[in-house]
Amino acid sequence: MTNSETKATLSFSDGSPALEMPIYKGSIGPDVIDIRKLYGSTGMFTYDPGFMSTAACNSSITYIDGDKGELLYRGYPIEQLAVNGGDFLETCYLLLNGELPNADQKKEFVATVTNHTMVHEQMQFFFRGFRRDAHPMSVLVGTVGALASFYHDSLDINDPHHREVSAIRLIAKMPTLVAMAYKYSIGQPFVYPRNDLSYSANFMHMMFSTPCEPYKTNEVLVRALDRILILHADHEQNASTSTVRLAGSSGANPFACIAAGIACLWGPAHGGANEAALSMLEEIGSVDNIPEFIAQVKDKNSGVKLMGFGHRVYKNYDPRAKLMRETCYEVLQELGLQDDPLFKLAMALEKIALEDEYFVSRKLYPNVDFYSGIVQRALGIPTALFTGIFALARTVGWIAQWKEMISDPEQKIGRPRQLFVGSPKRDVPAIDKR
Ligand code: CMC
Repeated sequence: MTNSETKATLSFSDGSPALEMPIYKGSIGPDVIDIRKLYGSTGMFTYDPGFMSTAACNSSITYIDGDKGELLYRGYPIEQLAVNGGDFLETCYLLLNGELPNADQKKEFVATVTNHTMVHEQMQFFFRGFRRDAHPMSVLVGTVGALASFYHDSLDINDPHHREVSAIRLIAKMPTLVAMAYKYSIGQPFVYPRNDLSYSANFMHMMFSTPCEPYKTNEVLVRALDRILILHADHEQNASTSTVRLAGSSGANPFACIAAGIACLWGPAHGGANEAALSMLEEIGSVDNIPEFIAQVKDKNSGVKLMGFGHRVYKNYDPRAKLMRETCYEVLQELGLQDDPLFKLAMALEKIALEDEYFVSRKLYPNVDFYSGIVQRALGIPTALFTGIFALARTVGWIAQWKEMISDPEQKIGRPRQLFVGSPKRDVPAIDKR
């Protein structure tokens, strides 16, 4: 970041002295006003619930222009990465290292990740402690956090090699854990990873093969899963990534931090939206019920939202949604599901919402989750696992952001302040006086 020649001046109507603050420029995107001296100089905090106007860090990983509908990983447009940028592990390498790998680097990276796909045999006992109907996100919060107790050899966050090893372990083991969560829920035996398969093909193998029959991966479906992973790999300082950074700012180990990120992602306003979007479609049930549903969405007292629509940053369109929509068509065609009633319902709902004044005036467009649920369902992934797939994809983004934070000399423990509106100091009355 560079200093701008322009400075910001904060003045007060009560005649208190004005405060001049530096402005910094990034490589692209909005400039920031450095308010770090504000409290020391004025005794005041800024007030910004939801971080609508706050940059909490500087980062060189992912850039989003919400008005243009642009998403760049390390400068590369998501459209190019998804279409001709190679597979998900190339995107992982890019996010972690800043550059796309050459052929040798890719070979070495794939071999390293592949080497770490198995989890400690003891991990299966963690799974057995859960009810079979436990939500996979609760299983993942627990088991990913538990990884820290198996890898004491890589927990020194001040050692760059330890950070690297933890990053690789997390990326490599997430598919294994997500597939184990699924297998446990349906009462099938856990399937060990197969290191001769690609990252996404191996995940499908661990999900869908059984000891009774060989499982043949379908290239179109593997590519679709790979695209889901690429599109969800990072999204700058969203709620779960900020959670990972905040947890990590105290020096917590990376497994604990990623478990915190998974907990945040679970919420329906964030990663839980793909599951919520599909449940919503199932609840609407048929095209005839759409007008009644839309009326409920518009009624502020109903608390009903059109899940899979709207985004805090994208106010034009979500570029991931466009790519996911394409994949959706490809997968349904491959599986002969073009006439799938849920898909038809989704398309009808999308059309009506895109033409409706309520959604148009609020710039509410379908987001990636509107389509990713339909694709995942077609791949055979159960609804409850959708957010787990999102967590699997986002692990690389979380860990890349965590690594960036740890090596940032400006990093401090995150400690927001507050505007206190409770009772001023008072004395505790005796119980008979209350
Ligand atoms: N359905 C109906 N109305 C909506 C929706 C929606 N999905 N989203 C926003 N609005 C309305 C909202 O009620 C408000 O109306 P008004 O101005 O009349 O009060 C207006 O649009 C602005 O909304 P907001 O709540 O200020 O927007 P936000 O930036 O705080 O919220 C959001 C963004 C994603 C939380 C929200 O759009 C939402 O809840 N969408 C549904 C959940 C969803 O699909 N989330 C996935 C996001 S993409 C995946 C990810 O990155 O995690």
